[in-house]
Amino acid sequence: MAKILVNNSGPLEGEVKISGAKNAVLPLMAATLLTPDTCVIDDVPDLSDVMVMRKMLESFGAVVSMSDPGKLSVNAAEITTVEGDAELVSQMRASTMAMGPLLARCGKVVMPLPGGCTIGKRPIDLHLKGFKALGATVTEDLENSSIIIEAPKGGLVGDAIYLDFPSVGATENILMAAALAKGPTILENAAKEPEIVDLANMLNKMGAKIKGAGTDTIRITGVDELSGAIHTVIPDRIECGTFMLAAAITRGKVLIRNGIPGHVRPIIAKLKECGVSVNVDEEGILVDATKGNLVATDIKTLPYPGFPTDIQSPFMAFLTTVEGTSVVRETVFENRFMHVVELNRMGADISTDNSREATIPGGKQLHGAKVRSTDLRAGAAMVLAGLVATGTTEVSEIYHIERGYEDFVGKFKSLGADLMRVEEHDV
Ligand code: UD1
Repeated sequence: MAKILVNNSGPLEGEVKISGAKNAVLPLMAATLLTPDTCVIDDVPDLSDVMVMRKMLESFGAVVSMSDPGKLSVNAAEITTVEGDAELVSQMRASTMAMGPLLARCGKVVMPLPGGCTIGKRPIDLHLKGFKALGATVTEDLENSSIIIEAPKGGLVGDAIYLDFPSVGATENILMAAALAKGPTILENAAKEPEIVDLANMLNKMGAKIKGAGTDTIRITGVDELSGAIHTVIPDRIECGTFMLAAAITRGKVLIRNGIPGHVRPIIAKLKECGVSVNVDEEGILVDATKGNLVATDIKTLPYPGFPTDIQSPFMAFLTTVEGTSVVRETVFENRFMHVVELNRMGADISTDNSREATIPGGKQLHGAKVRSTDLRAGAAMVLAGLVATGTTEVSEIYHIERGYEDFVGKFKSLGADLMRVEEHDV
């Protein structure tokens, strides 16, 4: 298994270009199952999650090709099976994005559940609630640890759906299913993330009738069929935030190109509260942490447009280095503080009184240690911490990082970071 070795690097300097968004491209790829025509997606990042989704599409019978780097063509003229591959689903939860398109187009989908989750429980109860509202029946196949979702004879029928929580994945799945349902669907308390807007834009290019994406009420008028489309993925706001924090934690100065400032507003606001200078112009987002004393701030994660949960761990790494004590509250996920133990191995001294709130004393000089990349974003947080720690930090389980960051090590190196990817037997 590969690792990343990170050495204390001094201030990062230079410019970096943000890639297409992982969380946008996965549902866009799933949406190609809605049409027998060819769809072309541009700016597709080179990520292991994209490879898994590609295999998933191929497992359903789609023909997928990548003619130029980043240009992905999918033709799902023939759907050869509606049964999801258990191995692929266990590798990536976003595989469940195929449920909505297959249900709408083929009238049935069989989806293995990762970790043997039962119906009615998280993480997909809201997705299922939406499908049921459109007339589908949901049956649990205990023996095969999967669920069978079937549309009524004559297909899905639009309805009013209220989400108890603005789940990103549920909103996307319901959008795709309702796009081919009969009549209107009104989705209330929908997620408002930019990735939802990107999906709705591509679906509308395919002939769907979706209004209101990006607000909490989305209106979908079902159509009989969808056609192919050419679409460019939006830039990755989480990668953008990660590089903003890389500049901040190293007290460096980095120009971030291709990020959309409106998508990272809460990160800009919180960095400014800490005393980091952030300037936006036509060149990009310039993050300058070279001057002045940086101070503590409090963070509370929320659905968009609130502070993104995916930036919580990189921001926490940064907060260990500023003056004063910060409090971070996680409200989106129940257990997203696994990086606390790892940061503490590096001398951070963070305390958590429950799985929702962490207190971070600032002004710490972190030291190198052997740490784990406990999830995708936590892995990025460990690398950020390693950039300012004394000695060498050894980050293991970096397959998590490679799921979601394109050319992670290369981009950091281009900014002057001292890090390298090694295979375990080289260490
Ligand atoms: C997406 C992102 C992920 C991000 C998250 C929140 C992708 C591929 N991933 O994940 O990076 O961290 O949004 O911004 O886009 N929930 C339920 N029932 C459901 C669905 C979700 O209770 O049916 C709960 C989850 O357990 C979690 C919360 O809702 O506590 C948020 O989940 P959701 O918005 O669905 O996130 P994902 O779409 O899985």
